[in-house]
Amino acid sequence: MKANIVTLPGDYIGPEIIAQAVRVLEAVAAKYGHEFAFDERKLGGASIDAFGVPLTDETLACCNAADAVLMGSVGGPKWDGVEAARRPEKGLLALRKGMGVFANLRPCTIHPQLAGACPLRADIVSQPIDIVIVRELTGDIYFGKRWRAEDRMAATDEMAYSAAEVERLARIGFEMAKKRRGKLCSVDKANVLECSRLWRETVARVSRDYPEVEVTNMYVDNAAMQLILRPSQFDVMITGNLFGDILSDESAAIAGSLGMMPSASLGVGTRGLYEPIHGSAPDIAGQDIANPLGTILSGALLLRYSLGLEEEAKAVERAVEQVLDEGYRTADIWHEGLEKVGCTRMGELVAQRI
Ligand code: IPM
Ligand code: MG
Repeated sequence: MKANIVTLPGDYIGPEIIAQAVRVLEAVAAKYGHEFAFDERKLGGASIDAFGVPLTDETLACCNAADAVLMGSVGGPKWDGVEAARRPEKGLLALRKGMGVFANLRPCTIHPQLAGACPLRADIVSQPIDIVIVRELTGDIYFGKRWRAEDRMAATDEMAYSAAEVERLARIGFEMAKKRRGKLCSVDKANVLECSRLWRETVARVSRDYPEVEVTNMYVDNAAMQLILRPSQFDVMITGNLFGDILSDESAAIAGSLGMMPSASLGVGTRGLYEPIHGSAPDIAGQDIANPLGTILSGALLLRYSLGLEEEAKAVERAVEQVLDEGYRTADIWHEGLEKVGCTRMGELVAQRI
């Protein structure tokens, strides 16, 4: 098949990890006879430096015309002084909103080879752990009104949700649960927040269309604890933008490293935005030591969800497992006795195994 993929390397380690994910996708194209055209654009700080804004209309239009978008990471100290409205992260938020990708899937599984990198006790992680966090991505406090007092000594960020926004997200969660183990946990703070009460009511209403899915509701504080105490209890978790941001980083600790975690952001239709869940890691940029596997695995999700290439997606996931089985590790997941490799070498190893 032919596919147009926009790449947005972004800032700091972004270009390093994107180069490796592209290399792996090129290996997939060669092996399976596909034609992937890559169109590289600027996002975040890189776009601020080139055009004065973190996302241009032209870049957004390219993304909305592509089959899929693969993003690296944005932000970092270089742009810390930039006014809030033009920060690099604003570019990413505007991209998510502009592409209408309201559902962010963040899978969390333990790669058995990395069990040692997980800080949880062995008896907790020896249970099968296979969670998908479905995070709402274009609403919540991320996109509400903001206010700062003239004297700068008080501020507000508004949390807002509509029933329609909750419903479309919940449906994605229920559909996913139906295809998996049939369990859905909805995470909110309905004992305090009005948005969460709306969330819970809406989920209850949608659940009537999915009698085969077992629904539980959990307060976010308890969910944060349960993820550590007994992660194996979860199948699909649905939650709002802010809670999902926090819980998905927490789930990364279970998986062993933030560097391993992929994500897929979907809306209506198959066009999607794919990005590792980690940030731009300014402290290790330019040293060729970043872990590209989260981005490479995001490429696998791109093949699966936007291009419908399930076999190819599995080939990427298998190649990653194989490289881990063979004992190759980037610094974030390395320990004595294993072979430490850099970002480029890791990408090369995965690509060779496609
Ligand atoms: C993430 C990141 C972003 C978010 C930042 C960079 C805006 O933390 O993708 O989880 O908060 O959504
Ligand atoms: Mg985050």
